[in-house]
Amino acid sequence: MQNKSQQEQELLLDVRDLKKYFVVGRDFFGRPEKFLKAVDGVSFKIAKGKTLGIVGESGCGKSTMGRSLLRLYDGVEGEVWFKGQDINKLKNSEFDKIRPNLQMIFQDPYASLSPRLTVGEIIGESARQHGIVDKEHFHEYVLHVMDMCGLQPHYFERYPHEFSGGQRQRICIARALALKPELVVCDEPVSALDVSIQAQVINMLIDLRQSLGLTYVFISHDLSVVKHISDDVGVMYLGNLVEYGSKEDIFRETLHPYTKALFSAVPVPNPHVKMNRIMLQGDIPSPVNPPKGCKFHTRCEHCMEICSQIAPEYREVKPGHFCACHLYNSEEDTKRLIAEDEEKKRLAEEKRLADAQKPLNKFKAAVVDKPVGKVKEIVGDTYNKIKEKVKSARDKKSGNDKTEPENKDNVGKE
Ligand SMILES: Nc1ncnc2c1ncn2[C@@H]1O[C@H](COP(=O)(O)OP(=O)(O)O)[C@@H](O)[C@H]1O
Ligand code: SF4
Ligand SMILES: [Mg+2]
Repeated sequence: MQNKSQQEQELLLDVRDLKKYFVVGRDFFGRPEKFLKAVDGVSFKIAKGKTLGIVGESGCGKSTMGRSLLRLYDGVEGEVWFKGQDINKLKNSEFDKIRPNLQMIFQDPYASLSPRLTVGEIIGESARQHGIVDKEHFHEYVLHVMDMCGLQPHYFERYPHEFSGGQRQRICIARALALKPELVVCDEPVSALDVSIQAQVINMLIDLRQSLGLTYVFISHDLSVVKHISDDVGVMYLGNLVEYGSKEDIFRETLHPYTKALFSAVPVPNPHVKMNRIMLQGDIPSPVNPPKGCKFHTRCEHCMEICSQIAPEYREVKPGHFCACHLYNSEEDTKRLIAEDEEKKRLAEEKRLADAQKPLNKFKAAVVDKPVGKVKEIVGDTYNKIKEKVKSARDKKSGNDKTEPENKDNVGKE
């Protein structure tokens, strides 16, 4: 799944079938039984120096995906190839060495800033721990990073609570950049800021990308922000990418009905342009029990018969433009998908019958080639066991457990 331009450029990140399931229910023995599939098989690639924008409604798995990329969760499945090595397979000690290279900026800049440390200490602390700067050059280095992020030198000795939201986010960005990362995952970095401040922070991120050669995964529910900063765009729905491609392709030749509905909801600044708003029916379904077939079928205005039965394939519909929707199937694709689904159902039914047959086969194996007397014994044993089971089930049902008073009477006699 590569754009032409990506093939020519150095690939920084190659994510294959990324999955993160949260356990939301356990059985009697404490074993995981019920899962919330927050990220359910996501694949994409990013070339060095580029920005991939990730969009989708709240709860579709954007943050979980971003955090899973940086190993902030246990139990993440799939491959995350960063500069040629699968970081998901690295031991913790090996991953610690490349950790500074992969940084994350969060939505809430206040929550992650220690109130007891000065701005200078916050920005430089991790860089010093990782040996990126020594004691002697610490002050000078932090001032340089602060300058890059539009922070005045005299902020060095001040504390986070003295700053506005926008400045606090600049402190968070400076802290991440002090580690000289190559990849930065930005999770809604401006969503909590005033609109006037948002543009300043976004433009600063664009400048820093250019001057430092950074690569971004930029997560946002705000399409205008994503359009401004991204080279490629991925659209997520219930843990999956449903559409992915270059920004131009995604915005000009939108394919997936979900993406179309998302885009139609963005206000157009020109009063002469009539908005054809596509209303999305209802809320996003629960990822614990996602709809069968296409996960979007419960809200899709183009839903066809096949959509509620068979999940569409995620494939390259046009060069570099990927989409998971039956609308783009050829007749052969649809026939093949139906045939594959029928085969899957047939195999499942065969397995069910084979499982049901197992006790009978076991019994047959026990009696075959045995003398008649032995067979009678085995049959008798099995018959008695079944009789006992039926009797106890009947007793339970009628609440008529006669064994208890009989036993009570017997206690005195013995
Ligand atoms: N630690 C967690 N335990 C259980 N469920 C979680 C956890 N974190 C997120 N989720 C669930 O995973 C889904 C995706 O969440 P999230 O990645 O935060 O979505 P988004 O960032 O797109 O709003 C949601 O249904 C959310 O409730
Ligand atoms: S597969 Fe069917 S339900 Fe899903 S988005 Fe396409 S048309 Fe709509
Ligand atoms: Mg989020």
